[in-house]
Amino acid sequence: MNRPAWLRDAVFYEIYPSSFSDSNGDGIGDVNGIRRKLPYVKALGCNALWLNPCFDSPFKDGGYDVRDYKLVAPRYGTNEDLYALFREAHALGIRVLLDLVPGHTSEEHPWFIQSGQAERNEYSDRYIWTDFWIKGTPDHPYIGGETPRNGTYMLNFFKCQPALNYGWAKVTEAWQTPADAPAAKATRDAMADVMGFWLSQGCDGFRVDMANSLVKADDENKSYTSALWKGLLNEMRAKYPEAAFVAEWGWPKQALCLADFDMDFYLDHPGNGYNRLVRSPDAYLKGNDPVAFVKDYLDRYEVSREAGYISFITGNHDTPRISWYLSEERLKLAYALLFTLPGVPFLYYGDEIGMRYLSTLPTKEGGYTRTGSRTPMQWGTGHNLGFSPGDPQALYLPVDPAADAPTVAEQERDPASLLTAVKAVLALRHRQPDLQADGPLSILHAKAGDPLLVYRRGALTLAVNPSDGPVQTGLSGAPLFQLGTFERGELGPCSFVVL
Ligand code: GLC
Ligand code: CA
Repeated sequence: MNRPAWLRDAVFYEIYPSSFSDSNGDGIGDVNGIRRKLPYVKALGCNALWLNPCFDSPFKDGGYDVRDYKLVAPRYGTNEDLYALFREAHALGIRVLLDLVPGHTSEEHPWFIQSGQAERNEYSDRYIWTDFWIKGTPDHPYIGGETPRNGTYMLNFFKCQPALNYGWAKVTEAWQTPADAPAAKATRDAMADVMGFWLSQGCDGFRVDMANSLVKADDENKSYTSALWKGLLNEMRAKYPEAAFVAEWGWPKQALCLADFDMDFYLDHPGNGYNRLVRSPDAYLKGNDPVAFVKDYLDRYEVSREAGYISFITGNHDTPRISWYLSEERLKLAYALLFTLPGVPFLYYGDEIGMRYLSTLPTKEGGYTRTGSRTPMQWGTGHNLGFSPGDPQALYLPVDPAADAPTVAEQERDPASLLTAVKAVLALRHRQPDLQADGPLSILHAKAGDPLLVYRRGALTLAVNPSDGPVQTGLSGAPLFQLGTFERGELGPCSFVVL
């Protein structure tokens, strides 16, 4: 497969910059905080980072409302700090992906301010505008009454996020520009310029936000948006062949085969395989049978096998934490499974210690129900749980107030902890090429009404039992690795074995 070779053994760690480590005591995490935690990431077994947007922004959507694509948000530090992070990460063998938000900008971006002027200028067509102050199309929200221009503009997400103009697959109104119009090309080139800027500074690629949203009224295969990405990504690869790109898309057939991304997230969508593995009421890891998960997963896996990688997530900044759904024993199984299937997995910061979803927190910076998954990393038992030396009242979000809030320091000392289990599984993956992204997979046992899942990765056989009782596997041999118990073919409750 023609993907960067380093992805084969890559395990990503997603960092929400505001909440990871505060180096200067202002209560907000920052780039220098991340720098000093690189050895932690390395020791955990992750060798790549994805940083959520760290660019200048009014932060009405946690930074997904970018005001300047080429400037590190002052609250996180300087561009120099980020370049230093790239260098130090590389010295430890860690790659760094930034978050590219190509579908929209902040309403405070200078392009948008220009675009909203009454007189035509270079940026008039950079966003999607109608030609009258009360007008729109039924399939998208439009905003009027905010700018001198006689028109309304399309939103891509929140009100603060006007849609950039990559044109329309099918033009039905005089004010719409075709996908091959110069205005659409200019937007695309502007994004190429942003990507080239960071790649030239040492960034190793991008996680691409709402990657499937670019060309409007696209066909059901997203052919226009896909063609745009294929061209753009390959333009980047010509100069940066090691760069890697992961799509927030959730449909490998399009994201990998057509749009040519290296990786596509297996997102939490209602009823899909990821959802039926971890989160739905009948999820496999809650002790049910794995049939629905396996079917959805295999369909995607077959499609992706020659084209790129499916990226499992433990969770992300948009979903309730995985610990909301599973007990600690089952979290261990979840990670064992997610980290031993093909593709390139992503671990969300804090999931390695089972940080909790703080469901009652009021919304912060456009987080709403996502806010409870974005609280400060819990490093130790001291002041602010080691996140910040600052005033506890001034933190970006409060730390978990529970007396038994899990911490890195405590779990590092405990051989039975979740953190210890995560490290062990990741170390196993790094030792065994069969368990890595490209290793072959076949399902040996997945049956309705039966919680046992057995699968093969190359020379290894793996079995999972998420139920509360033992199951007979019919397998024999000495375990190479195990969680829980495995004796004379019997896999204990909440157990996992590699033979
Ligand atoms: C993606 C991001 C999410 C953001 C949205 C708009 O789904 O993951 O956090 O709010 O796009 O950019
Ligand atoms: Ca700070």
